[in-house]
Amino acid sequence: GKKLLVDVDCGVDDAQAIMMALAVPDVQILGISCVSGNTTVDNVCKNVLRVLKACQRPEIPVFRGALKPILGNTLSAGHFHGQDGLGDAPDPKAPGLDRIQKEGAVAAMVRIASEHAGEVSLVATGPLTNLAMALRIDPNFPQNLKGLYIMGGNTDSRGNSTMCAEFNFAADPEAAYIVLNEFLCPTYIACWEFTCHSKLPWEFCDVWLAQDSEKARFMKRIFQHSMDASRGGCFQKEMVAGDGFVSCDCYAMAAAIDDSFVTAFHKVAVSVELTGTYTRGMMVLDTQELLKKKHKAFVMEQVDLEKFKALMMAALK
Ligand code: BDR
Repeated sequence: GKKLLVDVDCGVDDAQAIMMALAVPDVQILGISCVSGNTTVDNVCKNVLRVLKACQRPEIPVFRGALKPILGNTLSAGHFHGQDGLGDAPDPKAPGLDRIQKEGAVAAMVRIASEHAGEVSLVATGPLTNLAMALRIDPNFPQNLKGLYIMGGNTDSRGNSTMCAEFNFAADPEAAYIVLNEFLCPTYIACWEFTCHSKLPWEFCDVWLAQDSEKARFMKRIFQHSMDASRGGCFQKEMVAGDGFVSCDCYAMAAAIDDSFVTAFHKVAVSVELTGTYTRGMMVLDTQELLKKKHKAFVMEQVDLEKFKALMMAALK
């Protein structure tokens, strides 16, 4: 079986990614760490607890992590995911924050990775703050990981959050810089444009949500806000809306779950812009190998969409 650590800023696509992993029998989630991103870290914690409740998996430990990025102000993605991160469709019977582990996220990530050294992959679907801090308290953290799967970054100069940067990297550029430059484990990146080019059709979405299950009913409620935002063309209309829906974080998760999911990569050294007037947080690809970096990331280019559909369907069964 596959062992996963999952680090999230639980908005709607993070929730979908968690549900995808929980539905695969030989995947074991050892812990879910929370980070500020799409919404506040406390909302993120609550959202993860709600997802685990909807999946009847309350035993999975949830850890609270960074409240803010390493430098700068927090961003939020409330316009897309809803202010609470899950579509502003609250559940009055949602589990309380007393269900969060006492141990903090960074300590827990470091501990779990060393207890399962070489066997656990980390899927990171939010700003990379917790990962950067984990490295700073345990330099062996990255080498204890079997693989790192990131949703973040962009490969052309158009961002989805600032003019030039994708949300997760824009929300904590320093953390993204530390991770891309200092995590020397196998690193797979599902970047913004790639996820937009690998959309699932809206017709699939209708069938997906119409499944007769508690999980599908839960998803239908929390997904409405971002479906409306996508269809309404809240930003980058031609990328987001059009012929299908983008569930960004699920691509990173699917790659971690199924080694044959990604069918083409660009193997390239990557970094992040930190100081540009307009470009802070933008991912930079060293295609000419000018940085002379030995460590290359695998930037995803193509995936098996039939496998993706099957994993998505199973997530709500
Ligand atoms: C990323 O930003 C967030 O809003 C999504 O959850 C995803 O992780 C897409 O840029």
